[in-house]
Amino acid sequence: MDRTAQRALRRTGRTVAYDPSSTVSPLQVRAAAVLEAGWTGTSTVPSRSLYPHQWSWDSAFIAIGLRHISPLRAQTELDTLLAAQWADGRIPHIVFNPSVPLDAYFPSPDFWRSSTAGRTAGAPRTVQTSGIVQPPVHALAVWLVHLADPGLSRARGFLTRMYPRLAAWHRYLLHRRDLGGGGLVSVVHPWEQGMDNSPCWDRPLSRVTPAPARSFRRADLDHGSPEDRPTDLDYGRYVRLASDYRDRGYADGAGEFAVEDPAFNALLIASEYALARIAHELGAASTARQARAERLTAALVERLWEPAAGMFLCRDVRAGEPIPERGVSGLIPLLLPSLPRDLAATLVRTMCGPHFGLGGTTRLVPSYDLLGEAFDPHRYWRGPAWINTNWLLEGGLRLHGERGRADALRKGILHTAGASDFAEYVDPYTAQACGATGFGWTAALTLDLLHDRPAGDRNGVTAIKGGDQG
Ligand code: SER
Repeated sequence: MDRTAQRALRRTGRTVAYDPSSTVSPLQVRAAAVLEAGWTGTSTVPSRSLYPHQWSWDSAFIAIGLRHISPLRAQTELDTLLAAQWADGRIPHIVFNPSVPLDAYFPSPDFWRSSTAGRTAGAPRTVQTSGIVQPPVHALAVWLVHLADPGLSRARGFLTRMYPRLAAWHRYLLHRRDLGGGGLVSVVHPWEQGMDNSPCWDRPLSRVTPAPARSFRRADLDHGSPEDRPTDLDYGRYVRLASDYRDRGYADGAGEFAVEDPAFNALLIASEYALARIAHELGAASTARQARAERLTAALVERLWEPAAGMFLCRDVRAGEPIPERGVSGLIPLLLPSLPRDLAATLVRTMCGPHFGLGGTTRLVPSYDLLGEAFDPHRYWRGPAWINTNWLLEGGLRLHGERGRADALRKGILHTAGASDFAEYVDPYTAQACGATGFGWTAALTLDLLHDRPAGDRNGVTAIKGGDQG
């Protein structure tokens, strides 16, 4: 590490345990600076401009990186998020910062009205949140944060505090959101799955009557280029689905949109494995959780595996049929340790074949089929490559013994993160930065990949398998 990098680390790293003999790289220093700039005192914003509050799955990924520079901050990040959990167990997708002006982000707290419309579902009174959820990466994040400094975690009762909340969160998903009746969780809004405008939603969304354009004002276009963001028509439908859900008091079951998504469910399963490890650490029974993770993996294969596509597909629960689009979400189950070996091999072939191009036409896995009719290299989740999905796939490749491919993907992620100034997403062919720069999870997952671990276990996600190399 050169002197400038050392000075920068000292400047940015109020919480970094600085060790002059360590080999901290300039990329680590820059990534740490992004997280420092986004820290509000209790959590980290994904982006000061585009996303100025706390987002649920962003915070989980951010904590996974933050633990390498400040395990205490990483714990606080998750403590803050889980303090906003609703009594029915849901963890809201946004926790609003009251000091941010209402018009800085849409939909704002006065749209969601959590403390009134969400009262029956048990929304907290003291903090304003949205009423939908995001992928359940939290138990995985909690386990990895614990592993970063088990002494601190034990001294602060971190796992003891988190465990009942995480258990309630999984219970909510498994009991209230099994809308298809086959044991898997359904999302009721594209924002819940996190890949907002993926072409996978085009068909189920086409049944939704958009809210009139004049009934809301998009704040995202104040900061992001319209070509990189979802269209107005998509937004009209997002708003309609969210306001209908709110007007039903956030009660589950009756909405027009219900989709079983492979990534959402795979992340729940990965988190269920993590919860088993947390339970074991706390001296509680863990075998039932382990068994549940295995049962859920079997349900995922039974309901969403599509042999002809060589990957998992989403299922439109309202129409009762698979959605014939190849989104990156259908590759994410590669991170599951008990995925049958032949399916894992098929997923790797699909990832490296013409539809996703990894190692051939692309260095990172795109968010959507390169050959799909709806492919667009710049528009949010309709083609660009994202770092969080690539981090998950990097872990999946390692887990299934694909070390060479994982090493190459790791290199691609680190190069892209550094060269794009930690962009939110990039053109999968040219790596041109899209969306926001200085994006929280891009920086955090860069830190996770740079963290020194024994060779062969370079990605935190592999810790669900057993090794304690978080
Ligand atoms: N990703 C959404 C947005 O763009 C909502 O979570 O605001």
